Amino acid sequence: MAKMCKFLIINLIVSLNLANSEKYKPLFLPHFLPFGEYRAKYLGFARCTSIQSHDKIIFNLYLSKTSINTTEVKGNITNYIVIDDSFNLEMNMAVKDSIGGWKDNAFVFKKPKACSSFKQLLGTVWTQIMDSGGNYNATCPIPMGFYKLSGLDTAVFASVDFMKKFFYGSYKVRFFFTKNNEVYGCLVMAFLLINFIVSLIFVNSEIYKPLLLPHLPFGEYRINYLGLTRCTAMPLLVDKILFNFYLSKKSANTTEIRGNLTNFVQFDDSLNLEFNMAVKDSIGGWKDNAFVFKQPKACTSLKKLFGKAWTHVMEGVGVYNATCPIPVGLYKLSGIDTAVFSLINFPKTLWLSYSSVKVKETMGS
Ligand SMILES: *[C@@H]1O[C@H](CO)[C@@H](O)[C@H](O)[C@H]1NC(C)=O
Ligand SMILES: *[C@@H]1O[C@H](CO)[C@@H](O)[C@H](O)[C@H]1NC(C)=O
Ligand SMILES: *[C@@H]1O[C@H](CO)[C@@H](O)[C@H](O)[C@H]1NC(C)=O
Repeated sequence: MAKMCKFLIINLIVSLNLANSEKYKPLFLPHFLPFGEYRAKYLGFARCTSIQSHDKIIFNLYLSKTSINTTEVKGNITNYIVIDDSFNLEMNMAVKDSIGGWKDNAFVFKKPKACSSFKQLLGTVWTQIMDSGGNYNATCPIPMGFYKLSGLDTAVFASVDFMKKFFYGSYKVRFFFTKNNEVYGCLVMAFLLINFIVSLIFVNSEIYKPLLLPHLPFGEYRINYLGLTRCTAMPLLVDKILFNFYLSKKSANTTEIRGNLTNFVQFDDSLNLEFNMAVKDSIGGWKDNAFVFKQPKACTSLKKLFGKAWTHVMEGVGVYNATCPIPVGLYKLSGIDTAVFSLINFPKTLWLSYSSVKVKETMGS
């Protein structure tokens, strides 16, 4: 017998003090994103298309992967003007929300004295960036000219004096040089902030066995249940326990499991309880075995796993004072609030994914 349940794991943390420095002004707190130390993955550069610009600073930059773990910025920059302190330096960061749309103003930065501010912001990276453009011993202002980048390792950006903790997610940041509210040059950089921690002891109990560590952010989560379906890809499925479940939205924030369950066999400790979680990877494919659980004594193990949720679930199927084994029979669900699953003895911290996670639960053999 088998059952699948799709859900979204999203972060529990809904409001955090974003800024750790008064020069950064957060306008929008992306409420669904986990927060912490990050590692940046650079995705690309583009010209600003949604902004009217005098185009006096032309960026022709692109990313070039030079090895499995190194990426370089290449291309060229043409300054038709001197970049001096008569300009402002502005930065506007957009964040991708959970439904895939971009939200501007996730993070806004505006400083006068563009050249000096840029130099100060870059800190020690200033020299590396300027050197890679052939501008040695660079100081402000940056002269007019054509600068060809010899290949700047993106790893140097990790040394920029920027917040070391931020919300994990996909971002697009627009850097622009302005004067009197007019834009003279603009560059868009897209990147992903992911958790620093790429390998963690996943389990808080030895019965859980992690086989694959998805490079996803990690933290406390909240579950959004997306659906329940029969397992279709299971060989050797004898269907002696038949689930006919579906989700029913009761209110804006409550969802119930409804339907019925038929036990053609007694659900007892002669069965094993297995659980295989697949995770949707960054390119949208499903990876099985993200998380694997197998226990003998299915009934007792389920009771133990459910913990305080056991009674709620059993009463939801009309079995009062339920103990193991669960007899043969047809069980009609009166409606089990999905909130009861938060009582289950499952790890309270997990990898977080903004895409859906598919859970496959198999019981018996
Ligand atoms: C990149 O990978 C190589 C080989 O695996 C390793 O020696 C090097 O330290 C890595 N560099 C970084 C920046 O992680
Ligand atoms: C500047 O970079 C662009 C984009 O990579 C390239 O097409 C162009 O040929 C470069 N210009 C020069 C003069 O190298
Ligand atoms: C940069 O400065 C160093 C020492 O101040 C000097 O030796 C070198 O020639 C300078 N390089 C350029 C390209 O001006």
